[in-house]
Amino acid sequence: MGKIFSKLLFFQRQVPFPSSESHIDSIQVCHDICRELWGQNFIAPIHDELKKKDFKVLDVGCGTGSWVCELAADYQASCHGIDIQSVFPTQKPRNVQFYTANILNGLPFDDNFFDYVHIRSLAMFFTKEDWESKVVFELFRVLKPNGYLEFVECDSMIYNMPTSLNPLCKAGHPLLPPSSSSYLIRFERFLHDTNKLENICHEQKQLILGNWSNDPLQNKLGSLMSGIICQCFRNHQDAFCSYISKKDFAKLIEQLPIDYNLFKTYMVVHRFVGKKVAD
Ligand SMILES: C[S@@+](CC[C@H](N)C(=O)[O-])C[C@H]1O[C@@H](n2cnc3c(N)ncnc32)[C@H](O)[C@@H]1O
Repeated sequence: MGKIFSKLLFFQRQVPFPSSESHIDSIQVCHDICRELWGQNFIAPIHDELKKKDFKVLDVGCGTGSWVCELAADYQASCHGIDIQSVFPTQKPRNVQFYTANILNGLPFDDNFFDYVHIRSLAMFFTKEDWESKVVFELFRVLKPNGYLEFVECDSMIYNMPTSLNPLCKAGHPLLPPSSSSYLIRFERFLHDTNKLENICHEQKQLILGNWSNDPLQNKLGSLMSGIICQCFRNHQDAFCSYISKKDFAKLIEQLPIDYNLFKTYMVVHRFVGKKVAD
């Protein structure tokens, strides 16, 4: 198992995010990968409710709004997206509203306001303490009793990690934050222990890197993800190159897609959904 992706995400947390066109593009590609991996945008049992105009949906850390805009285009529900940065699209379905806010300072909504709250790919932006003392409870606060909360997060590990990643791991090691690995393993237990959610369901899907699968869809998604990781490394080249030479860095980046196929490398994406208990 490797922790290199958590290092990359940690670097991303150190710079204003998304900081460039390539970051924005990678959010869009990750959204497409996630939808294709599950074959849908959510697993909460809310298909019928989403057809009602007064059903309220919130996407926290919505980024460029791809997820919330797709949902709003498919259903009549009233959809809301918030992000700390205003990178929202200029064109959007009529039933979507965007807000700029930092969840760590509290969400700008009343208690028990939303029927469904979705949060995806924010694990690395918060420490374990942020998650467990602020973020999760703020999500509970704005969710109505019997409403659904859904989390989607990529495991920070890379499984069957190629040896060519080792020098990058070593290069990144002094920068690895102590709380960034394997948090999701404990997350389901934490959700249970809050006693705020019931019927918690946890699904996991393997996302390969490269194109070593027999499944053409997996190969398509694996190639896309491999491209995003390479781009991520390139975006943070300067941080890595204080530990290894530029020449070695370039060689390693070139070798990675070949090695993913040799080692059958993969990642795991987790989805948690639960229903807020009635008071
Ligand atoms: C990796 S992107 C994921 C975007 C989107 N959820 C998706 O899956 O396509 C993470 C997003 O979280 C936002 N974010 C990070 N920290 C935040 C905070 N404290 N409050 C609100 N949004 C935050 C970032 O600005 C970024 O747009």
